[in-house]
Amino acid sequence: MSLGIDLGTSELKAVLLDESGAVPAHAGVRLSISRPQAGWSEQNPEDWWQACLAALHQLRQQQPEAYARVRCIGLSGQMHGAVLLDDGDQLLRPAILWDDSRAMAQAHALGRQYPAFADVTGSLPMAGLTAPKLLWLREHEPHIFSRISCVLSPKDYLRLRLTGERISDVSDAAGTLWLDVRQRGWFEPMLHACGLTLKQMPRLVEGSAASAGLSASAASLLGMQQPVVVAGGGGDNPVSAVGIGAIEAGQAFVTLGTSAAMVAITDRVAGMPASVVHSFCHALPQRWYTMGAMLAGASCLRWVTHLLGQVDEQALLQLVQEELPLTQTAPGATPLFLPYLAGERTPHNDPLLRGGFMNLAYDTTPAMLGYAVLEGVGFGLLDAMSAVQSAGAEVGTCLLVGGGARSNYWAQLLANILGREICTLSGSELSACIGAAKLGFLAHGRGRDLLAVGMPVKERFVPAVAQQEMLQTRYRKFRGLFTAAQALHD
Ligand code: XUL
Repeated sequence: MSLGIDLGTSELKAVLLDESGAVPAHAGVRLSISRPQAGWSEQNPEDWWQACLAALHQLRQQQPEAYARVRCIGLSGQMHGAVLLDDGDQLLRPAILWDDSRAMAQAHALGRQYPAFADVTGSLPMAGLTAPKLLWLREHEPHIFSRISCVLSPKDYLRLRLTGERISDVSDAAGTLWLDVRQRGWFEPMLHACGLTLKQMPRLVEGSAASAGLSASAASLLGMQQPVVVAGGGGDNPVSAVGIGAIEAGQAFVTLGTSAAMVAITDRVAGMPASVVHSFCHALPQRWYTMGAMLAGASCLRWVTHLLGQVDEQALLQLVQEELPLTQTAPGATPLFLPYLAGERTPHNDPLLRGGFMNLAYDTTPAMLGYAVLEGVGFGLLDAMSAVQSAGAEVGTCLLVGGGARSNYWAQLLANILGREICTLSGSELSACIGAAKLGFLAHGRGRDLLAVGMPVKERFVPAVAQQEMLQTRYRKFRGLFTAAQALHD
C-alpha cells in the first residue's frame, strides 16, 4: 500500500493506493489562508502538519488494515512557497505562499540585474516564485533573514516532520528559481543573487527516488510500521501529471483549481521564458514540462457565485446552461470578463493587474455574468496555450483536471475556445494524491506498470465548429481590453 499526500492551498488530501491502482480510502482537511496585508498570502506550516495528522487519522479509521500495510509515502504540494527554518529546524515565521505578490519589486530587480538567468532557471523572476520572496525578506525582515538556516518548499516541511530530514525534489525546487533546470541541480549564482548559499538549501532527489525513511517517532505517532520509504515527490502540477499518466512528451493537460494552468510535457527544457511560461523539471527523471500559469482559475467561478448570492457553483452553472446553451451560435450582448482577480502570470507577469466585466447593460443577467466568467478563464487558458506553444511544446488533446472539471458545460466551452478535444477523467479530483502515491511506489522499487496507466476517460468534448467564429471575435475583443486594465494601475 502506498500513501499519497497532497498539500493544497485550500485543502490537504491523502489517499491509500494499492498496486492495482485501487483507492481503498481518501481523506481531506480544509486549510485557511491568512492575508495580513493586501497582496500577502501566508499559512502556518504547523497547521499543515496538524492537517496531515488529521487526514491520516481519517484514513486509519476508514481502512485500518490497508493503513497498516503502508510501506511507502509520496508527497505533492503547492509550489513556490517559502518555509524558513532556523538551525534547530524551528519555523522563523509563517510561510509565504505562491499567490503572494509582495516581492514584485524584487522580482523586477532580479530580472533587470540577471537577464541571462531566466534561461537557466526556466522562468522569468515573478513575484510569486520563491527567490524574490527571500530578497524581500532580506530587505524588510533582516532579523529573520539573518537566522535562516534552510529554505524549504511547503510539502518538504511535511517531509521534515515525517523523516527529520531537509530534502526537496527537483520539480518543486524548479519552482524556487534557484534550480538549473537542465542540470537538475542548484544554481549557485541565483542563490548568491538572493544573499543565500548552497548550505541553506535542502538536499535534492528525483521525485520517484527514495528521499529518506519515516523516523521512529513519526512512525509511532502515525501508527505505522517501519520501514516506510518517503519518495522525493513533487510540485502539485507535475505530480498531478503523474497521477493522470501525463508522463511522455506531447501529452498536455489543463488544471482548473484555485489557480489554472496549461501544462505540456516535454523531453527537454523547452525554454523561452520570454513568453512568460515556466519550463520546469517534471517529477520523473529526464522529463520536463512547459506551463502557462494563471493565478485565478475555478476560483473566479466561486467568487462570482458568492457575489451573485447563488447557493453554490452548481446553481449558477444551472442558470448559465438554461439561459445560454452552448448550441446557440451567439451569446448576444453577453459581457466579457477579464480573469485577473489576483493579477496574472502567463502571459502578462503582472501581479497588480485586476479583472473586470465589460459590456454590462440593464438587461445583463446573473447567467450572463456566469457565462462571461467561464469564457474569460477559457480565454486566459488560450493565452496560456499560445505561450506554451511559442516555447516549442506541443499541445494536442488536453486532459482536464481540478474542481472545474466537474462541469461538462465548462469542458465543452474550453474545447470550443481552445480548438482542442478535451477529456475529463474519472477520479481526477485526487490526481495529485494518486500521483504522489505512485511516486511512493516507484521509490519502493515497484509500480512501473501503474505509472503508465492513466485515469479512465469519463467524457470527451470535441470542439463545436459552429461556435468558433463567434468565439474568435469575442477573444479578439477580450485581448483588446487588456491595455485598459493595465492602464488602471500604471
Ligand atoms: C504553479 C502554481 C500553483 C501552485 C498552487 O506555478 O503556482 O499551481 O502550485 O497550486
